Amino acid sequence: MKSSIGVVFSLAISIRAAAIVSFPNPPGYTTRTYNAHAPSSAAKSTDQYSNDALVSLWSRVGPIAPPKNTAVASPTPEPSSLSAFPQPDPAFHPLVASHETGLKDVKLPQNFAWGVASSAYQIEGAAKEDGKGPSIWDMLSHQVPGFVADNSTGDVLAEHYYLFKQDIARLKALGFKAFSPSISWPRIFPFGNGPVNAPGVAHYDAVITALVDVGISPAVTLFHWDTPLALFHEYGGWSNEKIVDDFVHYAKFIITRYDKYVPIWFTINEPQYCNWQYAGYPAEILNPKTGKKGEKGGIKARFACGHYTLLAHARVAKWYHEEFKGQGRITFKNSGNYYEPASTAAADLRSAQRNYDFSIGWFSGPWTDGDYPESLKSTLDDVLPKYTEEEKRIIKGSCDFYAIDAYTSYTAFGSSNDEACMKDPKNGAFPECAGSRQAGNDGFPMGPAGDTGVDWMKTTPGGIRRYLRKLKEMWPSIPDIVVTEFGFAEPFENLMKTKGEILWDLRRADYYQGFLDNILASIHYDKVNVTGAWGWAIFDNFEWNAGLSTRFGLQYVNYTDLTRTPKASMFQFLNWFQ
Ligand SMILES: *[C@@H]1O[C@H](CO)[C@@H](O)[C@H](O)[C@H]1NC(C)=O
Ligand SMILES: *[C@@H]1O[C@H](CO)[C@@H](O)[C@H](O)[C@H]1NC(C)=O
Ligand SMILES: *[C@@H]1O[C@H](CO)[C@@H](O)[C@H](O)[C@H]1NC(C)=O
Repeated sequence: MKSSIGVVFSLAISIRAAAIVSFPNPPGYTTRTYNAHAPSSAAKSTDQYSNDALVSLWSRVGPIAPPKNTAVASPTPEPSSLSAFPQPDPAFHPLVASHETGLKDVKLPQNFAWGVASSAYQIEGAAKEDGKGPSIWDMLSHQVPGFVADNSTGDVLAEHYYLFKQDIARLKALGFKAFSPSISWPRIFPFGNGPVNAPGVAHYDAVITALVDVGISPAVTLFHWDTPLALFHEYGGWSNEKIVDDFVHYAKFIITRYDKYVPIWFTINEPQYCNWQYAGYPAEILNPKTGKKGEKGGIKARFACGHYTLLAHARVAKWYHEEFKGQGRITFKNSGNYYEPASTAAADLRSAQRNYDFSIGWFSGPWTDGDYPESLKSTLDDVLPKYTEEEKRIIKGSCDFYAIDAYTSYTAFGSSNDEACMKDPKNGAFPECAGSRQAGNDGFPMGPAGDTGVDWMKTTPGGIRRYLRKLKEMWPSIPDIVVTEFGFAEPFENLMKTKGEILWDLRRADYYQGFLDNILASIHYDKVNVTGAWGWAIFDNFEWNAGLSTRFGLQYVNYTDLTRTPKASMFQFLNWFQ
């Protein structure tokens, strides 16, 4: 990347011949062409998978903003602003002091996998196009007041659905060799089960082809929270065991079709989301058949969700290795943060452990005997569903490597009330019964804060090194760890009005530098086998409950004209890997 980016970019799009790609049609699936904009005038069909049924499903979500583009755009040469931006140049590198100057000459292990990540609902837009079914997030963002802080939705966004060729060409021009997108389940199965939607498949065929064409290796997530809405209407989504078969059915279709080009599969993004989503879903949306208005999913939905999610992952992984004999590696991405015990007092140590148990420990079965940690079983009792011996056998060993999305760190502290809390489901701190805060014992914040929409994060790059060591200590059977997400929401970025302010995102650039230095220190000094690191995100996206106003991108997205522009942090990230 020593030459001008503009030059590299135009070469990339002009001289590459299209690669020859072909996709097998998995047997046993029926295909239809859906169109959610086309109600029929024919008599009402009794077919639950009819096009009219899709139209009717969408009517519960309400009107969707139309897309700005209507067809896939061909890549165009980059605007001159890209080459006018600070070039990847050693002089730019010390923008932020390295936190680990002693590692200046230390090299990453060969085959270290790195890139940027994203997810379908957060960047694609085109929410109702080409036969896509609604997902729970279409419903939540449209129909639950206050669920998304700024009332934004995933209707249009950066419209990666139409601009993916440009986005992929840009990644290539910047020097990326890998990209981690997710596939939208309701684009492939508008009802979650039933027929495959041909235009949805054609879309991902084109995405994989575009990646293969420029030599960018995809690490694909099958499920990043966009559960088909129809499965909530049918049985309550992930809180019901029926979802396991439906997910396996979807996963087999995708993996069979694309495995040849996808060396890394993530079945599930962050099953821990059951914590902060399923418990909070309005009961009547979680399960329209049984849910009472005014109630929330609560603790039962939360732990049922976790239960069937891990089982669904394990069933796919078993099939992948034993029947399908896939060539790649498969795992799921955990969400977790580092907890530094406030002291060596027993209550603080217990608190740190319980904070782990209820986040990553909950899903540690692949690295233990396949079961839940004792602390979950004893605290939750009947609220925690039980795995059969056969299910435990499938779960144990179902991950090929450990994937952790690790953004920040906390201090964990215990208290004399914790034990009473563990026996009292009415206690607000139940079931964790373990304190944590993002401040040291002196009360001073652990690090600079992120944007106001992400009150859960401070920049604490030193935490990742301790966390990686801790993971390996907790589960020694882990062969290697990949940091599958890390990133930062620059404070007040959404309030800035000009690119001149936005693009110089010093705090985020500093975060990336410190984080990567600490990953390298973990490999070099602590001998932890870290084999990859993925920055979140490729560009600004829909940040779930925080909406569009909280920005995590390494590229700025202008939501008026949909242009993307790399920020300083993008160059800091790229320079680090040079
Ligand atoms: C979001 O919409 C609600 C009405 O549903 C309104 O009360 C609130 O002010 C809106 N919030 C923002 C940030 O626009
Ligand atoms: C790190 O993990 C990879 C993948 O499991 C393995 O091939 C490699 O040998 C490991 N390296 C070390 C130093 O253990
Ligand atoms: C976003 O795009 C619009 C339309 O091109 C333009 O008027 C506006 O200045 C852009 N915003 C920024 C921050 O560049």
